[in-house]
Amino acid sequence: MKSLIVYYSYGGNTKRIAEMIHKQIGGDIFRIETVKPYTGSYDDVVDQGQREVNAGFCPELKPLNVDLARYDTIVLGSPVWWYTFAPAMHSFLQQVDMTGKTVYPFATNGGWLGHTLQDFEKNCKGAAVKPGIGIKFDEAVLRTSENEIQQWIKGIH
Ligand SMILES: Cc1cc2nc3c(=O)[nH]c(=O)nc-3n(C[C@H](O)[C@H](O)[C@H](O)COP(=O)(O)O)c2cc1C
Repeated sequence: MKSLIVYYSYGGNTKRIAEMIHKQIGGDIFRIETVKPYTGSYDDVVDQGQREVNAGFCPELKPLNVDLARYDTIVLGSPVWWYTFAPAMHSFLQQVDMTGKTVYPFATNGGWLGHTLQDFEKNCKGAAVKPGIGIKFDEAVLRTSENEIQQWIKGIH
């Protein structure tokens, strides 16, 4: 069975890592998008994100044109928003059934990963959630070594 990479990315960092993984493992790749885009300055989005995370808000997503039944290995990627995955990833995980899947989570962040990887585990009920990786960026500059990322990718099967 093929693997699937599902990711959300606001600024592009998570997209970059998702594409790096896709290049290596192949399979399919799907980008989660909210119906209502986040607008305003970066600080506006940081503030909106804080309100949404605190409220447990799950934004409406564009149609999920992906059939999870076709995959048994799923890589999930999100930026860290206020110490957890972004609300759009929360929406996705509310909508799907991960039972029986093997899940590999990654989270790009600015140095404060918080409880993001544990939250993936909690929100993928019935799945085997494998050790995830936090990948650090300073704005758009990748700080986690490519070697560390490659080692983690090699463990996906
Ligand atoms: C709303 C918001 C909240 C964030 N909260 C955190 C955080 O709690 N910890 C952290 O290390 N970085 C935080 N960041 C930084 C992002 O996680 C980091 O820049 C990430 O790589 C962005 O990925 P993207 O470009 O795919 O959106 C936050 C960014 C935004 C926009």
